[in-house]
Amino acid sequence: MYSSTVLAISLLTAYASAESEVLWLKPQQMALVKLATPGYPLWVMDKEKPDVPVVYQHNGEYYSQTNDPSAVLLNLSMSANNHTLYINGQAILPLEDSNRPPQITTHQVHADTSVKILRTYAASGLLRGELGWDELQHRDFLELDYDRLVEADPETGPYFSHKPTLRFRIMGLGAYTTNEVLDVARQSVLHVTLNDTHGKISNHPKRSYAITNIEIKSIKNSYGGMHKGLEEDTDKECTIRSWACPDTGLYTPMAPYYRFIWRSKFDQFGRIGSTRHTIMQKVSQLQDIVGSKGLKRYITALVAGLIAVVAWNTYKKRMGSEGERKARKAALRSLEVKAARNRGEIVYADDDEDDEWIEAHSKDVVMELTDQEARQLSYIIPDQ
Ligand SMILES: *[C@@H]1O[C@H](CO)[C@@H](O)[C@H](O)[C@H]1NC(C)=O
Ligand SMILES: *[C@@H]1O[C@H](CO)[C@@H](O)[C@H](O)[C@H]1NC(C)=O
Ligand SMILES: *[C@@H]1O[C@H](CO)[C@@H](O)[C@H](O)[C@H]1NC(C)=O
Repeated sequence: MYSSTVLAISLLTAYASAESEVLWLKPQQMALVKLATPGYPLWVMDKEKPDVPVVYQHNGEYYSQTNDPSAVLLNLSMSANNHTLYINGQAILPLEDSNRPPQITTHQVHADTSVKILRTYAASGLLRGELGWDELQHRDFLELDYDRLVEADPETGPYFSHKPTLRFRIMGLGAYTTNEVLDVARQSVLHVTLNDTHGKISNHPKRSYAITNIEIKSIKNSYGGMHKGLEEDTDKECTIRSWACPDTGLYTPMAPYYRFIWRSKFDQFGRIGSTRHTIMQKVSQLQDIVGSKGLKRYITALVAGLIAVVAWNTYKKRMGSEGERKARKAALRSLEVKAARNRGEIVYADDDEDDEWIEAHSKDVVMELTDQEARQLSYIIPDQ
């Protein structure tokens, strides 16, 4: 009798204290969110060992798992110019590069952590998003897999009198080589609404966003309405036949292409397996071999090749299947002409600019390629 009452009470407290929490640090500018991660173990560091590494890079003998309720800390902040919302130091709305959604790391805490302790953490600089400073006391940083869905994303705009809302959900957590997928039914969704106080157009240079609302809602109350739900997160094959391998279940079919950001699907070149990824990777390999000067020539040919593939596609459509031979010839001619015309005209400053230039010139290649075209493309892109 006695022990079952104790059990009931302790269960109740565990449940009540495992609530998520929003703590405003600066009105309209900065807030700290403690988001409960039910089902994910709390890591405990071995404090006896003086040189314990960060948990997401190592664990092994330095950390152990407990069944205590866990949560993670998210620092929501506006950039100095009020154009961009950051989560833990990473641009999340709008994204810096929609082909490469940011990798977000987060600090894990016991779900019971009080508001007072949270304030202390904030004051200590723990949430600035930088690792590796000498006085680092807490090393339990984890990497996130997340669901990012934005209503009225400025990237798909421009919008007038603009109030975008970010829906942010943690799908999984990674510590070193341990990856865990969270139980969807037990998770909640962070909703962050911004308001352009300048009140004009979302791409106006004087736009100035304020964080006007932060809420934590159940899954059930998060994804209703005009877009598709979580069932869109199926494991679709991503091949070189698709430029970006976009997710479905977004508000629009345009960039940003991704909603479900699983770390295993992305690297520094973008969505693994896509045409774009293949190209960016080869460009990077080439740069290592031929240097950025030699790269210019390759890139010119490469982009001309892409344009040729597109031209070929369009031309083929117009001509019907009989025109294929003619179309191929025309495409090759267009490749030669474009390669010749572009050579020498473009001055590259750095990688970012290369990146931008390729993007700008290959925007049209959003269509699916046939196997034959994919082969054609691999032929154009030099191997090593
Ligand atoms: C950003 O917004 C805050 C209030 O929301 C305001 O105090 C600040 O002046 C703004 N900064 C800029 C650069 O517009
Ligand atoms: C939150 O992140 C921003 C951007 O990285 C940083 O400037 C700010 O200091 C952080 N807030 C706290 C309380 O550490
Ligand atoms: C949003 O900004 C506009 C100014 O553009 C202002 O009139 C309105 O009250 C703001 N809304 C909220 C919820 O802060």
